[in-house]
Amino acid sequence: MTEQIKALAKRRNALILAHYYQTLEVQELADQVGDSFALAKFAKETDADIIILCGVRFMAESAKILSPSKTVYLPAPNAGCPMADMVTPDDVLLLRAEHPGAAVVCYVNSSAAVKAVSDICCTSSSAVKIVKSLSEREIIFVPDQNLGAYVAEQCPEKEIILFNGYCPTHHKISEQDVVDAIREHPSAYVLIHPECRKEVLNHADFIGSTKGIIEAAKKSSVEELLIGTEIGVLEILRRDCPDKRVYSIGSTFTCPNMKKTHVEDVLACLNGEREPITLPEDELRAARLTLEKMVELGG
Ligand code: 13P
Ligand code: SF4
Repeated sequence: MTEQIKALAKRRNALILAHYYQTLEVQELADQVGDSFALAKFAKETDADIIILCGVRFMAESAKILSPSKTVYLPAPNAGCPMADMVTPDDVLLLRAEHPGAAVVCYVNSSAAVKAVSDICCTSSSAVKIVKSLSEREIIFVPDQNLGAYVAEQCPEKEIILFNGYCPTHHKISEQDVVDAIREHPSAYVLIHPECRKEVLNHADFIGSTKGIIEAAKKSSVEELLIGTEIGVLEILRRDCPDKRVYSIGSTFTCPNMKKTHVEDVLACLNGEREPITLPEDELRAARLTLEKMVELGG
């Protein structure tokens, strides 16, 4: 089926993009695999007619916002991001009313409607850079309280107003998990995603996006790695670095929504058996400004 999909994608001038948390089988189908920032950039820069985004809904919506003339598909239509669903446009408008001088930075893990009422977007790889680039001292950061707290620590010159959203997958990792893992593997290189709690991040040697973690782990000369993020990143490292020992901090952590995409779903998109992403025109236009500012500033 893989060969059939690749041939059909070529014929239909379709670009298949996949996030690192997708199954390896789906990643192997993709023209490009990346973190949220890289996927947004690929979607913006492609001249393909069709984008098939193997990920969760906010990623496909972001591709549509950045490339509105393309047909964009989310192969598993019910793959959402629970953290993105924790914040609504009304929540943002209420915070704006309470803090009239503040800029609103929304994590890319948010709906198009939330992006439309925010000032600028960020990803886990660009959050600190984006917040530092703003002239406002007061910053409303939605929806991830953990990434927001990490940004606040890196930007002491700013006052960050946090929202109470979180990623159910990363928030589950506890300080005890990381303490136990380090006790068991005292010489390991510890790499953690900033969606984890602050008390977990305090034990990291490296904090970064999925792409950042993969690159830093590959570059490191240390043979033992302790990884604090979703299982997909561990699978990639075990495949690509057979000489390294790769352990999860705590049990393994899976994002159930990221695993909803199957090879058959990608074929269904190419056969026109899925509905493409559509967004209200005003929402799309306002969200584009927010996302484009992020892409211009870079990851
Ligand atoms: P990255 O930007 O690191 O790919 O993260 C996306 C995400 O959803 C992490 O949970
Ligand atoms: Fe959302 Fe967390 Fe899944 Fe990332 S890992 S898509 S933040 S639920």
